[in-house]
Amino acid sequence: MKKMKIGLLGCGTVGQGVYKLLKLNEKKYLALLDGTELEIVKILVNDLEKVREDIPYNLLTLNPYDIIHNKDIDIVIEVIGGTTDAEEYIIESIKNGKHIITANKDLMATKGQNILELGNEYAKLVKYEASVGGAIPIISTIKDNLVSNQITKVMGIINGTTNFMLTKMFSEGRSLENVLKEAQELGYAEADPTSDIEGLDAARKIAILASIAFNRRVKLSDVYVEGITKISIDDVKYAKQFKSTIKLLGIALIKDNAIEVRVYPTLLSLSHPLAKVDDVYNAVYLEGNAFGNLTLIGKGAGGLPTASAIVADLLTIAKKINKGTIIEVENCSCYLDLEIKKIEETSSHYYFRMVVVDKTRVLSKIADAFADNNVSIDSVIQKKLPEGKAELVILTDRVLNKNMKSAKEQIENLDVVLEIKSVLNSEKEY
Ligand code: NAP
Ligand code: HSE
Repeated sequence: MKKMKIGLLGCGTVGQGVYKLLKLNEKKYLALLDGTELEIVKILVNDLEKVREDIPYNLLTLNPYDIIHNKDIDIVIEVIGGTTDAEEYIIESIKNGKHIITANKDLMATKGQNILELGNEYAKLVKYEASVGGAIPIISTIKDNLVSNQITKVMGIINGTTNFMLTKMFSEGRSLENVLKEAQELGYAEADPTSDIEGLDAARKIAILASIAFNRRVKLSDVYVEGITKISIDDVKYAKQFKSTIKLLGIALIKDNAIEVRVYPTLLSLSHPLAKVDDVYNAVYLEGNAFGNLTLIGKGAGGLPTASAIVADLLTIAKKINKGTIIEVENCSCYLDLEIKKIEETSSHYYFRMVVVDKTRVLSKIADAFADNNVSIDSVIQKKLPEGKAELVILTDRVLNKNMKSAKEQIENLDVVLEIKSVLNSEKEY
């Protein structure tokens, strides 16, 4: 029987998922590849003695060069994570004639271009479907299936941990600290959950999606990022009054030949397709000039769901190797040089929540401050508080970010405004 040999860098949640899936659907893959068997021949780990159910001990190694220098291995799957070792092993693997599959968004959002170009140079495929949205086939959908369109907007719930937390805050009225603890206990959030709750994980993923959608390399450092740490249960209550939810969204769009790319918690009307995507589920909403709009929803993490994307990439590469069709490789589709707008030049609706003195002319002073900065008001909710105070919640029309900021500064300096508690973005038009 013909065999195609694979080296697996890493055998944690995802690595073990890949091993299991190759066994689970072995017969299907054998038929798809005209009788060629996909065989994992070496697996790199840090600790040989960890318990790993169903993984043969004799496949494990502590030496990455057992894989990188193994001439029989055609394809390397990188699922160790991080950027230092992962980058070195991928680069060395390409130089040693291996095709690459990776789930590593940290690496692809910072060093993606170099890796893809090195793949081109050595005629080696580099595929990374699992790096965004776990099981959701979002990269191939944008890159291949929707290539006939100009994509105009990508908007996604692309971090499962924060979606789980916000869902619990809305459905159970619990605080952010309280739901974070549960997310950690359930193993969704990392022990150090910073990159999830500060929005960095989502920022890496939207950088990857924006690069593919707009054919312009977008790096992590190009993304404006706000996390969910300032969302309070009061914001949750008011969002409900506005018939909205709050989601941490990665948003990338193209307008007037310039790209906007950001991650922030967003007030989202309940009628939007993303508003009902709850718990650890991920979803990506796309707009294009031929298909209109579509939304893909699925599991954004976990062993088998992530392996689903990795093994799909593996089968694509294996088929091409079998047919001998990999002669020239074009891994990277970023050939445009478009401007990326500063956040101040972008526009959004905004939600302001503030505590004010409860007396006459307060509302008019605040309305004047908005008007002075060209910010028009959409709607207002006012609630009486004890001790002669009131809480004021204002939704604006779509305005420039820089105008919102100057209005905020002016309002902060009004003697009748005691504190601006929060300012959130809001998506109203779809
Ligand atoms: P994980 O459970 O922490 O597993 C990492 C594996 O890599 C472990 O087997 C570890 O060895 C090994 N490893 C780490 N650093 C190494 C090094 N320097 N040298 C040798 N071995 C090393 O991680 P994971 O959750 O599977 O995630 C892997 C990658 O997939 C990451 O890039 C992650 O962002 C991405 N991803 C994960 C998910 C998910 O659901 N978990 C979803 C999408 C993408 P030991 O076993 O000996 O510790
Ligand atoms: N920490 C990530 C999440 C895992 O919560 O979505 C998948 O990338």
